[in-house]
Amino acid sequence: MCGIVGYIGDRDSTPIILNGLKRLEYRGYDSAGVAVLDNGSIEIRRDAGKLSHLEALVNDTPLHGKIGIGHTRWATHGEPNIRNAHPHIGSTGEFVVVHNGIVENYLELREELVAEGTVFKSETDTETIVHLVEKFYASGSNLEEAVRQTLSHIRGAHGIVVMSSREPDKIVAARVGNAGGVVIGLGKGENFVASDLPAILEHTRKAIFLESHQMAVITKDDVRLMDIKGTPIAFTVQKIAWDPVAAEKGEYRHFMQKEIHEQVRSLTDTLAGRVDFDKGRVVLHELKLDVERAKKIKRIIITACGTAGHAGMVGKILLERIARIPTEVAIASEFRYADPLLDEDTVVLAISQSGETADTLAAMEEGRSKGAMLWSNVNAIGSQAMRIADGCISMQVGPEIGVASTKAFTAPLLDMYLLAVYLADLSGTISPEKRFELVSDLAGIPSLVGQCLDREPDVLRLAQKFKNMNHMLYLGRGINMPIAYEGALKLKEISYIHAEGYPAGEMKHGPIALIDRNMPVVALAPKDPWYDKMISQIEQAMARGGEVIAVATDGDTLIPDLTDNIFWVPETPWMLSPVITSIPLQLFAYHIASLLGLDVDQPRNLAKSVTVE
Ligand code: F6R
Repeated sequence: MCGIVGYIGDRDSTPIILNGLKRLEYRGYDSAGVAVLDNGSIEIRRDAGKLSHLEALVNDTPLHGKIGIGHTRWATHGEPNIRNAHPHIGSTGEFVVVHNGIVENYLELREELVAEGTVFKSETDTETIVHLVEKFYASGSNLEEAVRQTLSHIRGAHGIVVMSSREPDKIVAARVGNAGGVVIGLGKGENFVASDLPAILEHTRKAIFLESHQMAVITKDDVRLMDIKGTPIAFTVQKIAWDPVAAEKGEYRHFMQKEIHEQVRSLTDTLAGRVDFDKGRVVLHELKLDVERAKKIKRIIITACGTAGHAGMVGKILLERIARIPTEVAIASEFRYADPLLDEDTVVLAISQSGETADTLAAMEEGRSKGAMLWSNVNAIGSQAMRIADGCISMQVGPEIGVASTKAFTAPLLDMYLLAVYLADLSGTISPEKRFELVSDLAGIPSLVGQCLDREPDVLRLAQKFKNMNHMLYLGRGINMPIAYEGALKLKEISYIHAEGYPAGEMKHGPIALIDRNMPVVALAPKDPWYDKMISQIEQAMARGGEVIAVATDGDTLIPDLTDNIFWVPETPWMLSPVITSIPLQLFAYHIASLLGLDVDQPRNLAKSVTVE
């Protein structure tokens, strides 16, 4: 959860940037840095650890300048140390960059650049960006063009801010996909840029939000917007109410919509610091696990409620398939009274966004009292479920405000995958080749999620078509069966439309009696090992006069013959497909509730943290 702040104007930029970074510090805090243009040359201060370390460094060795950029980092590639902290400077010392996101093809780019003689100073993917900008500048482009050319070479989702002593009157910013936002704040004779509005709100209430594939050239008196091909774009300046809650919502109508869109970033952060793509390894330090302990684990019981329980159902499949550890999912409110059979070789693993859900905590206590090992996968830092566990995998999604959980659903899907790979590696149940394959499949996930988010207008169209239904049936099989449950839960809790999730193979044993024109069927049919089975379920539903809305993989040729109502999703390795298929269903529920004019963020009768039984 990295944060970016930049300033250009007549004031000293350093305190403005440091103050802005402070407001974003909760997003990333393993290192921080600032670069300013001081008398024509770039000066940088960076330090590992919290922002206070950087502040102390700047106090000891001050730096001043009227244009500057800064960053707080949560490591994705490379250890959280000074060398890997942003900003990253090129070989000539004339270009500097801060970046949110992952350069997915950085290894190839790095190899190419090294072959051309570039010397890398860090292990980060970001450093490739600054070297590319430098290279294109050297071949005759101006700064704006060099950034544009760089964007056409790097894959993935990005927020990028670049500054150069060769063109000291400007900052160039760009956004591709959803690796966090880029917002430009307008002042008088000064302008600001940040990843998030709160960083600049104390200076201005006038803001321009970059959309995906847009760039901005920011000088102290002017802002120009263009798409990443260079075509100028007219923009609207938004007036931000001086309301911290509205400010947090940024460009979105509801927190739920914002949080759905934050998933590229939250999933990037979920991988950060835990996945070593070069070595094909996952490390979850927070579990405090060693080989001996890992080998002793004979059984895992995942316990959770609601949405978190659905994440656990996917987790079961992953832990069994990848780590070959027998795993069960127990609804916490049942488990706590089930007098379960547990021992010290069993892990009770609680999944909880809030970490304060009464039933989940009671289930953990049951595990503790019967001598099981206790782990948790929790979002709220410092919560009870985090504190009482022997080991914890913290979700890296930041505060989730919308009552309907979205980003705190997809993060544990990845967390369970990481856990499965980690346990398989420690206990030696996986070959190095398989481990490499599973780890490398993770790299593309944030940008595949971004592609799903880019298709929001298609989802909105289907939401308009189906918003007045009274019932819907969600069907899935295998690893996407829990996503049918989750899609139905999302719809019912915020739109108050009756929706049921069902294992598709069970349809013929009862629910098929319900199917008619007024009971649309949402069928999860991505290209996974259950695809053929899902096609026949869709055919069965259609034969009963049902209207089918399918989640299908790009390029599928069978499903368009069966239905026109399709949420297309990009092709994804099947064990990770639930992360991708969840996105259109979250958006579908959101848009239906929003079109119905309902209180999306605070639906009736629900609470964000259910601390009662
Ligand atoms: C649904 C939802 C709930 C929670 C459940 C558990 O969108 O948010 O079903 O998932 O109440 O909450 P946590 O994860 O805080 O334990």
